[in-house]
Amino acid sequence: MKEWTREERYRVLKSPDEIRDLFSRIQNSAYRQTYHVQPVTGLSSDPNGFALYKGVWHLFYQWCPWGAVHGLKYWYHVSSRDLISWKNEGIGLSPDRDYDNKGTHSGSAISKDDDLYFFYTGNHRDENWIRTPYTCAAVLGPDGKPIKLEEPLFGPRPDYSEHQRDPKIVWNEEKKRYYIFIGAQTLDQKGTVLIYQSEKLLEGWSFAGALKVPGYEDFGGMWECPCIQRISGKDVLIFSPQYTTLPGRGNSTNHNVYLIGQMAYATLTFTPEGPYRYLDFGFDFYAAQLAANVTDPDKAIMISWIGLPDNHYPTEENDWEGSMTLPRELRIKNGALVQTPIFGIEALRTEAVSQPGVLPEACEMLVSNNGGDLDLNLFTRADGSGGFRIHYNNETKTCTVDRTGMNKRFNQNVFEVLDMPLEKELKDLRIFIDRSSIEIFANNGEALFTSHVYPEADEHGYTVNGSASITTYKLKPSVVDDFVM
Ligand code: FRU
Repeated sequence: MKEWTREERYRVLKSPDEIRDLFSRIQNSAYRQTYHVQPVTGLSSDPNGFALYKGVWHLFYQWCPWGAVHGLKYWYHVSSRDLISWKNEGIGLSPDRDYDNKGTHSGSAISKDDDLYFFYTGNHRDENWIRTPYTCAAVLGPDGKPIKLEEPLFGPRPDYSEHQRDPKIVWNEEKKRYYIFIGAQTLDQKGTVLIYQSEKLLEGWSFAGALKVPGYEDFGGMWECPCIQRISGKDVLIFSPQYTTLPGRGNSTNHNVYLIGQMAYATLTFTPEGPYRYLDFGFDFYAAQLAANVTDPDKAIMISWIGLPDNHYPTEENDWEGSMTLPRELRIKNGALVQTPIFGIEALRTEAVSQPGVLPEACEMLVSNNGGDLDLNLFTRADGSGGFRIHYNNETKTCTVDRTGMNKRFNQNVFEVLDMPLEKELKDLRIFIDRSSIEIFANNGEALFTSHVYPEADEHGYTVNGSASITTYKLKPSVVDDFVM
């Protein structure tokens, strides 16, 4: 693994020519995705600025141009008309101001009247590398590039640590004002959310207070990427708690959870109506963001980073890493979220694969379990050995996913085997496989499992044991992987 100096990680991109060769080189990687958004070069991490605006879905990702390393972060822009086909739009935000000199960090968007507004964290560092996070704004310009305000909207609170970032903008109809939720850390290193309010988007912001979530005063050391949305009369709070281990999550200290409850803006209190739940039980899922300006009161659209902070992935050696999940539709059923793949994704299906045991590199697999235990081993070698094993135990109603059988092992010290517990017996699995990812939807979206996977040339079979019927469709590419800056 390459060791990066700080200078290399924080190098400013002066011209697209500096990464043209890197772009050409990574095209040869066998793991470039075909229907998932991925970094044009280097690293992609959190989704940012996700919103519907004038019939187009805008999405950005945290982007480090130079390689698979968390260094100087840009927002790279992609767009879509249907959340299935995506095209590259070029750099969205660059760290070109003093207030964001060491990174345009994560944030959100909202469209209002004729404009699309962005809120992000300007990661400023001084010559002694002391960090000051600013909350900054930009507006989409006529040429499709965000135009930044001259000054940040506000700076950090001195009574919290330097970890104050990832503004999520929302409108509250009752209070007739906007709120910004900011992921934060108290001085005694507990995760929290800070709330700001204003009647206008680009001015008048004042600190309202810290969000109170009864029972969650000591739940991880930092809450990254908070997000809130009303779905079917409930409030859904999503966040990524860090610096703690949680049950069933191996040694990982990065998680993505949600709470369903009621948000009272008058008292800044979110009252959960049930336990916290994992958005996804997989190995690689973080920093989920809900799209703004979805008008259906009963659903949200979510996208997330397939990857985790502090982890390392095999494509690092080819100087790129990361991918977005497929967008998902979220609804509430029986007090929990149900997640289904984005509407219309079936349009990517081409032929059904008739040869049993053959796994195309980009495909959708529909598994219907006829009852009892099930063993589904994906990416097995020709002799049926190895693979990415999914074992369903009907007695415990749990799917155990084990990636130790793959040729390429990674993040072994974090986890390689995880459980996806189900509420009910396993009826169906809907599995989306791309060249370096797998997303498993169980029981029509009751539980999810997302993971990177890097099959080698001899790992394209599968075996099944149990009583299940399987249909596999090849999927056609829907993401244009071209060099746009
Ligand atoms: C989450 C995160 C955010 C931050 C961004 C920087 O992965 O750490 O909190 O804004 O990444 O890239």
